[in-house]
Formats: sequence, structure tokens, C-alpha cells
Amino acid sequence: MITAMEVVLTGATGFIGRRLIPRLAAGGHSLRILGRALRKGLPASASFAIWDAAESAPPVDSLAGASAIVHLAGETVAQRWTPDVKRRLRTSRVDGARRLVESLARASPRPAALIGASAIGYYGDRGDETLTEESPAGGGFLAEICRDVEAALGEAASLGVRVATLRIGVVLGPEGGALARMLPPFRLGLGGRLGSGRQWMSWIHVEDLAGLVCHALEGDLRGAVNATAPNPVRNSEFTSALARALRRPGLFPVPEFALKLLFGEMSEVLLGSQRVLPRAAEASGFRFQFPEVFSALKDLLK
Ligand SMILES: NC(=O)c1ccc[n+]([C@@H]2O[C@H](COP(=O)([O-])OP(=O)(O)OC[C@H]3O[C@@H](n4cnc5c(N)ncnc54)[C@H](OP(=O)(O)O)[C@@H]3O)[C@@H](O)[C@H]2O)c1
Repeated sequence: MITAMEVVLTGATGFIGRRLIPRLAAGGHSLRILGRALRKGLPASASFAIWDAAESAPPVDSLAGASAIVHLAGETVAQRWTPDVKRRLRTSRVDGARRLVESLARASPRPAALIGASAIGYYGDRGDETLTEESPAGGGFLAEICRDVEAALGEAASLGVRVATLRIGVVLGPEGGALARMLPPFRLGLGGRLGSGRQWMSWIHVEDLAGLVCHALEGDLRGAVNATAPNPVRNSEFTSALARALRRPGLFPVPEFALKLLFGEMSEVLLGSQRVLPRAAEASGFRFQFPEVFSALKDLLK
């Protein structure tokens, strides 16, 4: 029997947040949303307070008395990393996490759990190595940001808060993230592997991710948690599964130099290899509804 919680949610308007809201409601939880602006489509039953993670600490009273926090807000990674974007990525994510914990320290009564978003970018580019939560961080801009975010959120543990940081993989959902960008060329039969296609892609169905966030909230996961399906695939395997799911050819590879030209340093996200296993999630009893990429894609595209 799960006790209903009052959950503070940041990033509610994002791709993952929007999928999470109905899951939290279905679990009987009530919501306090923190965001940069009150936007259309947020549930009328939720309370709302303004918070811009890149600017200030959240109001202490927006946290006090809540049961738990789910922190998803942050500047999107999926854009060209100009110096200004890099600054926004850092301030919204690392400073945002620090400021959240600052307010948490002052909140009374204090929420008992903090579930925060990190990413598999933590591991950097790791070839064929199998990565678990025990694996060390890798190199590169994103790895540095993820490490700093995790360290900042981890400070809440010294306040007696249970902290779980989700190292989220490539989230698959037709309405956002990587898949939404890949669908137009693939639907036209113009899709194909990225670069050599040998890089490992650790993906997760958006509904499994929403389920894992709820599992982390309701259970006792703590520390780093890989939020990826148990069967990562090489990019070439992913793209051929996507072409097959759409019944289109997937024979048009995008060469590495073109990705680098188009996306600059951000191409490390597309070309980097991370073969990640969800050890902590599975050990805690979480059951993935979509462990295989083809059935996940078939479900998402039906
Ligand atoms: N999608 C993926 O494949 C993926 C993979 C790995 C990790 N993640 C992580 O999971 C979290 C949620 O992902 P998502 O795909 O739902 O992200 P998203 O769609 O980009 O939404 C993130 C939310 O963060 C807030 N935000 C955006 N820019 C901001 C800024 N400069 N300063 C402060 N707040 C800002 C916005 O909420 P408001 O405007 O309402 O404040 C936005 O709706 C993110 O931290 C992301 O890095 C996602």
C-alpha cells in the first residue's frame, strides 16, 4: 500500500514532466509545481510557484511540508553549445541544484526525498565498456556537468534527505527528445545510422522512465540510479529497428563530419558510446515494461 505524497515537481512542462504528471496523479499523489511561468496544460489541481533555476533559490515555503521533490528542470542539452548555451546549461543545472538544496536546508518540515535528473552523459564516451552505477565518471563537458549536479544534489543527504540521482539515457517518446527529431527523416525513408553506428545507445521508453521516477519516489532507492533499459543497442541496431518499426528503409547514414559541422561539440551526445546497465533499478525490484528496443519503438509508434 503506497501512501499518497505531496510532491514538488520542477521541469513539469518538459517532455518527461508532462508524462510524469498523470502517473503521479494515478498514484494518488498531489503536486506542487515550480516553474519559470505558469503554462497551459498544467493540471488545475496542482499548486504553482515561480522558480527559475538559473536565477535564484526556490521559495522555502514552496518546499516546506512537502513529502518529496522531483527535480527535472534545466536548459536543454539538444542544441548547439555556444558559449552562452554552455553558461545556461551550467547555471540552470549546477547552480540550480545548489540553490534547491540551499532552500531545502531551510525548509521545515523538510521533504524526506529528493529525486533529481542527471544523465548517462556522466560516463562520457566509453566504447564497448559495460557501465554500471559503480563505473567512474568520464570526460567532456556533459560529464562534468552531470558530476557537479550529482554532487550538488548529494549535499541534501547530509540533511537527512534520501537522494536518488537518475542517470537518464536517451528517452524515447514520439512527442519529444531524440525520437521526435529522428522521425521526420525516417518517415521519409531518409534515415540511417549516425557516424559509424557502432556507438552504444542506452535508451529508455518514456513510460518506463515515468514508472522509474515513481518507483524511486515511493521506494527506497538512493544514490546514482541508471535510468536506461536493460538492453542497450548499438546506434546501427537502433536505427534499423526504427526503420523496421516504420516499415521504411534506413539506409542513409549521416557521416561523423556532418554531425560535427552541424552540432559542434554537442555531437558528442550523438557520437559518444555508453553501454549502460540499470543495476540499481533492477536490484530494487523495478520491472521494465519495455526492455527491448524494437517492441518499445513499436509501442511508441502505434
Ligand atoms: N529527454 C531525454 O532524452 C533526457 C536524457 C537524459 C537526461 N534528461 C534530463 O531529464 C530532465 C528532463 O528532461 P526533459 O527532456 O523533460 O527536458 P525538457 O523538455 O527540455 O524540459 C526541461 C524543463 O526545464 C525547464 N527549463 C528549461 N530551460 C531552463 C533554463 N534555462 N533555466 C531553468 N529552467 C529551464 C523548463 O520548465 P519550466 O519552463 O516549466 O520552468 C522545461 O520544461 C532534464 O534535466 C534532462 O537533462 C533528459
